[in-house]
Amino acid sequence: MTKVQTRSVRHFVSLEQFENHEIISMIEKAITYKNQRTFPSYADKYAVNCFFEQSTRTHKSFEMAERRMGVQVLDFQPSMSSVQKGESLYDTVLTLQAIGVDLVVIRHGEEGYYNKLIESRHIHCSIINGGDGAGQHPSQSLLDLMTIYEEYGSFENLEVAISGDLTHSRVAKSNMQILKRLGAKIFFTGPQEWYDPSFEEYGTYSTIDKLIDKVDVMMLLRVQYERHEDTDIRFSKQTYLQKYGITFERENRMKPSAIIMHPAPVNRGIEIEDQLVECSRSRIVTQMENGVYARMAIIDLLLEHR
Ligand code: CP
Repeated sequence: MTKVQTRSVRHFVSLEQFENHEIISMIEKAITYKNQRTFPSYADKYAVNCFFEQSTRTHKSFEMAERRMGVQVLDFQPSMSSVQKGESLYDTVLTLQAIGVDLVVIRHGEEGYYNKLIESRHIHCSIINGGDGAGQHPSQSLLDLMTIYEEYGSFENLEVAISGDLTHSRVAKSNMQILKRLGAKIFFTGPQEWYDPSFEEYGTYSTIDKLIDKVDVMMLLRVQYERHEDTDIRFSKQTYLQKYGITFERENRMKPSAIIMHPAPVNRGIEIEDQLVECSRSRIVTQMENGVYARMAIIDLLLEHR
């Protein structure tokens, strides 16, 4: 089995904490897990998945990864926990650690919630960031990179368009930073209202019709309605699809080898035509499958040195 060439690390909160070769090693390890279906066993380790925001893929694929590696998973529901009595995230993690938990996966609405945890000299358990507000989503980014790497074997000079609700998307932020560092050429598209000039550091903005026939990867983002309370920008379903989405006509214009990605959940008929979600160039379901193996590689990285 491939040995992950990474430093010993305690936490996994952002892909920016890793060198390029370490990211490639994690990807290759995840691909080995997927192909060989043999995994290290951590039957003496305990994990808790603390999701303070809704999730299906991240929550359940971390749980699947943990269980397939023999990790004991303790149930945690914020609505039934002492969080409801005002307990802080720090005290929740301190408690879980005290009762013997090795690994805590956290999704939380506050950007950078993990800083207080990883900077504390009293927190020794491993923290995995399962998404922090509109900040980062590093495990999603790793599975996205894995999916691209499976397809093309490299990131060098790949043309990748990131399309849609850019300002509200933690997936976009994680991916633009890391893909550029790995050698991909990044383009942005979607409503200009959701494009921030700070993204120019990573790529250039264009319309979807100028990009659709040239890019290798069309990475769609979910329209994050739940994060739109601070804006009065509204698009009807049909307007969004016609102006910014993957219609049948646009899918037809893509290069034969090009792929469509989306972190999901997909707003069918908004970011992409309903019937194209499972089309032959879509890797949306593959991304979900790869999430389990990418998360196994993360868990192995943190647990192998504990
Ligand atoms: N892609 C993603 O993070 O999905 P969930 O919100 O269902 O975890």
